[in-house]
Formats: sequence, structure tokens, C-alpha cells
Amino acid sequence: MRAHPAGPLHGAFAPPPSAGTPPADLGALDERVWPRSARRVDGELHLGGTPVTELARVHGTPLFVLDEDDFRGRAADFATAFTGADVHYASKAFLCGQVARWIAEDGLHLDACSGNELALALAAGFPAERIALHGNNKSPVELQLAVDAGIGRIVVDSFDEIDRLVPIAEASGRAVPVLIRATVGIEAHTHEFIATAHEDQKFGFSLATGDALTAAVRVIREPALHLAGLHSHIGSQIFDTAGFEAAAHRVVGLMGQVHQATGEVLGELNLGGGFGIAYLPDDDPVPPDDVARRLRTVVAAECAALDLPVPRLAVEPGRAIAGPGTVTLYEIGTIKPVRLGSGGQGAPQVRNYVSVDGGMSDNIRTALYDASYTCVLANRTSDAPPALCRVVGKHCESGDVLVRDLWLPSDVRAGDLLAVAATGAYCWSMASNYNYLLKPAVVAARDGGTTVIVRRQTLADVFALDAVLADVPAPSPAIDQPAPELPVGARS
Ligand code: LLP
Repeated sequence: MRAHPAGPLHGAFAPPPSAGTPPADLGALDERVWPRSARRVDGELHLGGTPVTELARVHGTPLFVLDEDDFRGRAADFATAFTGADVHYASKAFLCGQVARWIAEDGLHLDACSGNELALALAAGFPAERIALHGNNKSPVELQLAVDAGIGRIVVDSFDEIDRLVPIAEASGRAVPVLIRATVGIEAHTHEFIATAHEDQKFGFSLATGDALTAAVRVIREPALHLAGLHSHIGSQIFDTAGFEAAAHRVVGLMGQVHQATGEVLGELNLGGGFGIAYLPDDDPVPPDDVARRLRTVVAAECAALDLPVPRLAVEPGRAIAGPGTVTLYEIGTIKPVRLGSGGQGAPQVRNYVSVDGGMSDNIRTALYDASYTCVLANRTSDAPPALCRVVGKHCESGDVLVRDLWLPSDVRAGDLLAVAATGAYCWSMASNYNYLLKPAVVAARDGGTTVIVRRQTLADVFALDAVLADVPAPSPAIDQPAPELPVGARS
């Protein structure tokens, strides 16, 4: 979809709502969408055993609440499904020191896609040999950091990068292990995939043009580098395994070409991430077991056809581990009923614009990708009739929408808490300070206790970066920071 640069058309009445008919129970928590620990107790949503009113009172809103058992459980599900293969958590989905430690303790690998993600993981004590570094424009400094730390894999993405890496690898005196990222000509989208003859995007070496083979041969002949295997990543939020299977078919074909050209048998095949999750109850993601079974089957068949040994597999799930277990809590402020015109029988249609205390600065995905989310009234249930609502943020922008169309009880009011589901991936990690809103805290909830794993940003943090304001005391507490904060790591 291509949005008009000025945003949605302002004057027009909205098209019929995509919210469908109201569900029978507006407060229901569909288990596909909500964290594993989510329950209603006396009407109130509890996460990790803690009531949301308590979470909001102690930590303030907006607040990312991460269900620790859900996050680690999903990581474990992938590790079990891919036993004998390597599961790299794609840390761009959400990374902080605590997450790096959980991933390390739980035996997974980690995919970093910038020098700073790598530096953060290393600072948290993540074992370097289990880290792979991605990126289409790795700087010499980033490559030096990776080589000095002795990380497990550098996923090489361009001929320029090979030129940059070789002298750094030579100086290290070790053969640096790399993968070649191949662009296999499969462009995957949520429910379909399109095979294209050539790819017009920035990542990887094209298989179709022969660049991927050229790069592989070049790396094999380069004594300072060790070609450990090949990599392919076809997209994100994919529900259908057919795209992965087609990619596996092509990249194993490339292994065959490399073998023919050089006699080298490559030992590793990383098929990337992109496994979809349920944002809405109708979304139907493929369980990790099924993904693993199908990928193993297709890779084994392709290798048998080419008379190649089956390589060690690796995958890089980010969203599928981090996404479903986190909920964003917001406090409702203004509610504005907006008339949409006639509802057909002459009755005016009304949409309630429900404004919350965050918005596109803590979840850009609705505005950026037209992503769909669902949310519930979290501090109580209500028998009031359903009202068509749009949940919006407090930014100075009409595209600042969190949930485009949904039904909420018509008695929602200022001070109520809303919980938006499945915000664990690419929300906090893509957060900004637009309009100088502050990045929310992230708390891990488990067994009735909570730990602040990333504290809320303060206005003092922001002032500290400002040449004029660095020494000016910030108002305390900050304007939009109503609740007291616990120190990072403190358990309540
Ligand atoms: N591996 C590679 C090489 C990737 O580029 C990505 C995501 C992943 C793994 C992890 O994909 P996942 O399993 O999380 O889908 N900001 C977008 C998503 C961008 C994904 C970029 N690469 C969003 O909010 O949907």
C-alpha cells in the first residue's frame, strides 16, 4: 500500500469499518493473540500473575509488559523443534541486556544486525561464538569489532564488504568464518510468495545473476576467510511455508553449484527468519514443529537430488519469539465521538476516537505498515453495548493510529487501561522520541513478580543530549511520567 505523503484523505467519510461485527465477548482473551499467562481475575487482566492496575500504578504507562515465561517458552519451542540445528534469535525484534542473557542461558544463538546490537549482546556477556552479524552496510569499525570479539559468523552481503573484511581478517591471523547471503528471488509476503527473476532490493548477492556463486568462490579462495555456508532470508510475518521451501530449494541448488565450481562441500544452511505470529484471532501461524519438519524434509530431498550431504540448518526467528508475549498498557485520556455520515437506515454512524498516552512513538507499525492489532479494556470488563472505536495516540499527526477499527464497550472512559496485544517485536525496538514523548519502560512479569528490564526514559535523559539544556534540571517527574519508577532490575 502506498500512503499519500500528506497522510490519509482528511475530508472523506471513512469506508465501512474493517472491524466486522462486534464479538460476543468484548473482553475475551484469545489464546492465539494474548501472552500465555494472560487471564482475567474478577474481570481484571493479569499478566505474569500481576494485575494490570498494579503494573500501571507501580511502573506508569505506556508500559511494555513482557511475559517472561511466554518469551522463554517460545524460544524453547524453537530450540526443541530445531534440535540438531541452530536457532538464532533475531535481536532486532527486541533486545536488551536481560533478553540477551535469557537467550544465552537458554542455549540459542543471536543474530545482530548492527555493531551496536552486537556490542550490546557482548556487553551482556553473550558468548561471541554464538553471534552472527548481519547488515548490508557494515562499516570497518563494525567488522573490526566482530573479528576482535571472535563472533561465530559474519553474514557477508556485498563485494564491498568482502574487500573491507579481508584486511581486517588478515590482521587477526585467523580465518574468519562467514556465510554468503544469497538473494534467492523469492519475495515472500504474508499469505503468498512471488518468485521473481531478479530482485530490486538492497540485501544479499543475487543468485539469478550469478553474483552469489562468484562471491562464494571468491571467499573460498580467500585464505583470510572461511566460507562456513550460505544464508537466505525471504521476508517477515510469513504464514505459508511454501516460500521457505522454495528458498531452500534454490539455496541448496547454489550449494550444488559451489560444489561443482570448487569441490567445496558447505556445511551450513541458514534459512533466516520471518515466521508469522497472530496479531488478530483469525491469524493462523505455522507452529515451529511444522516449520522445522517441512524445512528438514525439503533440504534433505534437495541434497539427496544433488548428492550432497545434508548441511547443519539454522533459522533466525525474531517476531515469533518476542512478539506474542508482550502487551502494551496505555491509559485512556480523551474520547471523541466522530460522526461518519449515514449508517444506511439514516442513523448516523459514529466512531469513537479513544486517545491513549502513547502512540506512534512506541508502536509505529500501524502507521508504517498498516499493521493490525487488537486490544481490550484491561482494568475491568463491561456489559455496556459495543461501540466502534479507533485507538489513537497523542502525537501531532492524524496517522497516529494504534488500532484502526475495533469494538470496545461503549462505557470506556478516561482513566481506564487499554492493553494492546502482541507488541513484543518491532515496537520498543522501533520507538522514537517524536514530539519528545519518552520511551516506555519494559517490565518482565512472572509468577506474580515484576522486574524492570529497561527503565522508562526520563526527560533528564533527553535534556542530557541537548547542547543548551544539558545542565538545566528537567521537571520531575516528567510531564508524561505520572508514576514512580523502580530501579532497573528491581523486583516488585
Ligand atoms: N533474519 C534476517 C536476515 C532478517 O532480516 C530478519 C528481519 C529476521 C531474521 C527476523 O525476522 P522475523 O522472524 O522477526 O520476522 N520492522 C518490520 C520487520 C522487519 C524485519 C527485518 N528483518 C516489522 O515491524 O514488521
